[in-house]
Amino acid sequence: MEVLKHDIVILGSGLAGMRAALQAAKASDGKLSIALVSKLHAMRSHSVSAEGGISGVLYPGQDNDSVALHGYDTAKGSDFLGDQDAIEILINHAPEEIKLFDHLGVPWNRDQKGKVTLRAFGGMSVPRTVFAADKTGFFMLNTLYDNLLSFPSVKIYHEHIATKLLIKDNKFNGIIAIDMATGELRAITGSSGIIATGGFARTYGFTTTAYSSTGDGIALAYNEGLSLKDMEFVQFHPTGLIPSGILITEAARGEGAYLLNSRGERFMSNYVKKMMELAPRDIVSRSMVTEIEAGRGLTDKRYGDLEFLHLDMRHLGEAKIDERLPMIKEISMKMIGLDPAHDLIPVRPVAHFTMGGINTNIDGNVLSRTGKPVSGLWAAGECGCVSVHGSNRLGSNSLSQCVIWGKITGNLAAQNAAKKKALDNAFINKSLSGEDEKIGLMLSAEGTNPYEIRRALWRTMDEHVGAYREAKSLMQAQKKIADLMKKYKRVAVMDKSMVYNTNLRDTIEIGNMLNLASVVVECALNRKESRGAHARREYPVRNDKQWMKHTVAAKSGDKIKITYSPVKITKWKPEERKY
Ligand code: FUM
Repeated sequence: MEVLKHDIVILGSGLAGMRAALQAAKASDGKLSIALVSKLHAMRSHSVSAEGGISGVLYPGQDNDSVALHGYDTAKGSDFLGDQDAIEILINHAPEEIKLFDHLGVPWNRDQKGKVTLRAFGGMSVPRTVFAADKTGFFMLNTLYDNLLSFPSVKIYHEHIATKLLIKDNKFNGIIAIDMATGELRAITGSSGIIATGGFARTYGFTTTAYSSTGDGIALAYNEGLSLKDMEFVQFHPTGLIPSGILITEAARGEGAYLLNSRGERFMSNYVKKMMELAPRDIVSRSMVTEIEAGRGLTDKRYGDLEFLHLDMRHLGEAKIDERLPMIKEISMKMIGLDPAHDLIPVRPVAHFTMGGINTNIDGNVLSRTGKPVSGLWAAGECGCVSVHGSNRLGSNSLSQCVIWGKITGNLAAQNAAKKKALDNAFINKSLSGEDEKIGLMLSAEGTNPYEIRRALWRTMDEHVGAYREAKSLMQAQKKIADLMKKYKRVAVMDKSMVYNTNLRDTIEIGNMLNLASVVVECALNRKESRGAHARREYPVRNDKQWMKHTVAAKSGDKIKITYSPVKITKWKPEERKY
């Protein structure tokens, strides 16, 4: 066990974490030591799989676009649960971030004259998504990583899984993590911390997200008694490839692809005549579920039991697909042997993004259960609920959120760390011993196979906590998750070794997912209305009078305590959401 001393500790190395590291390194001019900690090799963070693009008004006036229209679309897309002061930050800062990444080296798609090209995305009134083919996340993350390597003050800890946040008296001191290469426990300390560990859509089996999207940072915050916000809102993306769930980017529909039912009908005309396939994701996904439930889905034994619909890209033609959607072609061909230029692609709604997360104020400063900012701790990106997306995120707003709040929190973390506040070394050492004992117990326990628990959790979430919810089914999920949590108390890590013990890492992740899933279900049962991605069959309409408020959940012994906080409305008055 060792204690590694830094000034700033950033947990998570996706777009938000790396952007925060870059900002903190620049702001401190090399004078602060920054630890960037990732449970993977940093370049394998899930942001690398972001496909379709990043939103921001690069050309005000083009197609009558404006920053204010981006704000309106985002507020409406959020079903008026997004905090509009945060939305204003997003829309005002997105263009400068897109230009920054241009200067850093991202190869945005351009037209023949060299002008950056825009594409259409769901719920956006006009095309305003900037992209690098369908590998936007890869290019942005790679560019950040390359740039970070030139800052000697940034130390990257690859393959370190965090087990605890070191918070005492509402003040951040660092984290404890296992070095996967050796199995050694390390305290990585600093007076400033940024959690940037992404979302938790991996609590579902059928998901676009990586196996690593297990919400670790959110679960660690929850374990420390910090509050989580709006956890009931899980986004289902309309087009998960059958049978794996791999993302077929919304950009395919942005470029003109259609959705077809088993009769070959473009069914979206029955649901959202004007925006059709480019309505917001929550609406398109529910329309697809309705089509399937009405018996107009398809099945194919080669793909298992899941019913699906078709995405038709054939009319886009080979040249456009090769230029704008090359990875979608590659994925379709490699995974199921279909060429989108000639074949219909089988898709269905899939868990994709989690709007809820660690409760923060507008600066990303993490809030305690009593609403007090935790000294020296911020959250950025999908793991933090600032809340810019409210109950439903618009596609391509997430990358903007990641980099904007990466920058904001990187600056604030640097300012705080420059004060060189003393850390509580006795607490750090005691916590290290406590974690050592806890991990030792996990390694020596005999009992349930962790993968049995994970499979059962995935099945439960897929079956009971989907695009439509109802009390009976949610209560079944609640009971099943409670049973799984009991089993987890006797979970057996089968691999007892220290070196690259992925079995131990998976077991830790499963514990995190169980905690988060239990909060999602509790909050979903509690919210008795339909808003954005949360659609209750028994309460089909939005109820602003009772439910225009954020859900705030915190651990209270073995229970989950729910309170509320107000939604901030600035410029865009809540209205009925019509498309
Ligand atoms: O469909 C997509 O490319 C996803 C983008 C996003 O979630 O923002």
